[in-house]
Amino acid sequence: MPIMEKEAARERDSQVLPKVPVPPLKQTLDTYLKCVQHLVKEEQFRKTKAVVEKFGAPGGVGEVLQKKLLERREKTNNWVYDYWLEDMYLNNRLALPVNSSPVMVFPKQTFRDQKDALRFAARIIRGVLDYKALIDARALPVDFARGQLAGTPLCMEQYYRLFTSYRYPGLKTDALKVQMNAASSVPEHIIVACKDQFFVLDVAANSKQLNETEIFSQLEKILKMSENAEERLPPFGLLTSDGRTEWAQARDVLTKDQTNRDSLALIESCICLVCLDEPSRLEPRDTTRALLMLHGGGREKNGANRWYDKSMQFVVGMDGICGVVCEHSAFEGIVLVQCSEYVMKYITGTPSKMAAASSVRQLPPPKRLLWKCNAHIHGLLTASGDRLQKLVNNLDMDVFKFNTYGKDFIKKQKMSPDAFIQVALQLAFFKCRGRLVSTYESASIRRFQEGRVDNIRSATPEALAFVQSMTDERVTFTDSEKMKRLRDAINAQTSYTIAAITGMAIDNHLLGLLRISKELNMEKPEIFCDETFAASNHFILSTSQVPTTVEMFCCYGPVVTNGYGACYNPQSDHILFCVSSFWENTETSSAVYVKALNEGLLEIRDLCNRSSAAASKSASSGRGAGPPHKSGK
Ligand code: COA
Repeated sequence: MPIMEKEAARERDSQVLPKVPVPPLKQTLDTYLKCVQHLVKEEQFRKTKAVVEKFGAPGGVGEVLQKKLLERREKTNNWVYDYWLEDMYLNNRLALPVNSSPVMVFPKQTFRDQKDALRFAARIIRGVLDYKALIDARALPVDFARGQLAGTPLCMEQYYRLFTSYRYPGLKTDALKVQMNAASSVPEHIIVACKDQFFVLDVAANSKQLNETEIFSQLEKILKMSENAEERLPPFGLLTSDGRTEWAQARDVLTKDQTNRDSLALIESCICLVCLDEPSRLEPRDTTRALLMLHGGGREKNGANRWYDKSMQFVVGMDGICGVVCEHSAFEGIVLVQCSEYVMKYITGTPSKMAAASSVRQLPPPKRLLWKCNAHIHGLLTASGDRLQKLVNNLDMDVFKFNTYGKDFIKKQKMSPDAFIQVALQLAFFKCRGRLVSTYESASIRRFQEGRVDNIRSATPEALAFVQSMTDERVTFTDSEKMKRLRDAINAQTSYTIAAITGMAIDNHLLGLLRISKELNMEKPEIFCDETFAASNHFILSTSQVPTTVEMFCCYGPVVTNGYGACYNPQSDHILFCVSSFWENTETSSAVYVKALNEGLLEIRDLCNRSSAAASKSASSGRGAGPPHKSGK
C-alpha cells in the first residue's frame, strides 16, 4: 500500500477511538488510600493519609499538576503513552531475558531429523510473511473487546510495531524505534541465528518473495555454513542479554568498527529473528520448555543464539522445543498471542506449499554477519555470559495445569472468571505469607487511542477480608459468611477491572502527576517521596491473563527480586498457571506458591458447591414445608 494510503488508514484506525481520560484527582487519591491502607502499618498509613490530603487540598500541588495533565491530554493523542513507556520499560536497566521479555511456548514438536526442523522454520517464516502482508496492507480486522464491557473496537497500533520495532540500549534510558514509513523498495530480510552465528536471509529475490521451498533451501545452507568451525565467530548475541547499561556500553565499543556497525545495522532493520536452536538434551516438560524460551538455557545451551533487542524472535529447537521470545516495549502479550496463533494456524492449517522443482530459484547463500573482536570485547562477552548464567541459575519456574475446573465452573457461579482467579491468587499468597502485598494485574486500555495498559490493584481490602475468613484458625466463619466475603471480593475486583479498562485506574494517573511535576522542575511532591508510595509500586505479585485459543502458553519472570510472576491462561475446563520467582530469594518458592494455589482453588470450589447445595436444600425444604414464601415484600 502506498505510504499516503497507509497513513490515512492509520489515522482512520485511531481517530474513531476516544482519548484516554484523566481521572478526577480526588477519585484517584481516595482510591490510592483505599488500596494501601490494609497493606501498610497503621502508623505509616496515618502519615500517608496526611500527605495525600495535603497534596489534594484545594489550591494544593495536586490541583496545579492535574490542570497541567488536562492540558497535556488536549495536546497529545495519549497523554500517558510516553511517560508509561519510559517508566515501564525504557528506563528499566535490568536485562531483558527473564526480567522483561515474555515468551510464548509452543507445544513440543516432533521432528524426525534436522530437515524436519528446517521445514517447520520455513513454514514459520512463510506464516510471518503472510501475517506481515496483512499488517502492511492495513487489512487486519479490527479487534473488539471481549469479556467485561464487550463490543467496543480496540486500538490496532500495537500490531504495526510487531515487525518494525527495535529497542536500542542506552546508558541511562533505552530508545524504542519504529520504522513506520520504511520505503517499500528497501529489500526486507530476516536474521537467522544458528550456533550463535547470525545470517541475513533476504525474503525476496528480484522483487518476488521466496516460496517455502526456497526458504527451506536457504535455511539448509545456513545450517551448513554454521557448522564450519573455522568461520565461527564469538557469540555476540550474549551482549543483548545483559543489563541495558552494560549492553549500551558494550555497543559503544562495538560501533567503533565499521564491520560491527554494518552487522548491527542489518540486525536492527530486520523483520524478526528465527533462532535455530541446538537440542537442549532436557526432558521437554512444560516448565523446562518455558525456562528454555525465557533464557535459552544460558551460554552453554542457546542463550547466545538470540538478539534480545528485536521485538520478535521465533525459536525452532532441533529437539522440537519451539516458541517466541518478545521484546515487550512495543506491544502487549495479547498482540503477541494473536501473531503467534496466526503463525501456528498457518503451519497446522494450510497444506505445505513445497513448490515444484521448476519454480525453485537458485539463490546465492545467505550472508553471515561478521564481527570484529578484540581482547576488550572478549572480556565483555565473558562478563555478559556470566551474568546471563546467574539469571539462568536463579529462575525458579513452575508451570501448573489446574485440571479440576476452568472458566465454565466459575461462570456457573455467576462470577467473572478473571476476578475469581485473581482472588485465588491472593488466597494462595496469603496462605504462604499470612499477608497481602501490592499486586499488579495488567488491564488493557486499548479502547483508547494508542492505549496500552493500566494496573488493576488486586490486593483489595475485600480480598483480604475473604482470605482471612478462609484461613483463620481461631475464628470459624460460617460458609455463608465466607461466601458473602467471596462475592464482595469478586465484586470489588470486577469493579476495579471495569474502572481500569475505562481509563479510571490510578497508576497511570499518579505516574502522570509525578512526571508533570518533574517537567515543571518542581521539588518532588511529598506524596511521591513517601515510603507507602514506594511500597505500593513494588509489585511482589505481578500477574496477567494471557488467554490462547491454540495450544500454547505465555509466561514471564518476576518483576522484583522478592516477587512472583504469575501468568494464567483460563480455558473452559482448566486453567494453566505459569509461576516464576527467584531461587536467590528465600521468601519465595514457585512450588510452594503453586501448592497453595491448588489448595485454594479447591477450597473455593468446595465452598461454592456447599453454598449452592445449602441454597437448593433450603429452597426445596421451603417448598415442601408450610405455605409457600411470597417473594418480595
Ligand atoms: N457471570 C458469568 N459470566 C461472566 C461473569 C459473570 N458474573 N463475568 C464475566 N463473565 C464472562 C464474560 O462474559 C466473558 O465471557 P466470554 O468467555 O464469552 O468472553 C468471560 O466470563 C471472561 O470475562 P472476565 O473473566 O470477567 O474477564 P475479561 O475477559 O473481561 O478479562 C481483563 C479481564 C482485565 C483480563 C481484560 O479486560 C484485559 O485487560 N485483558 C488484557 C490483559 C493483558 O494485557 N494481558 C497481557 C499483558 S502483557
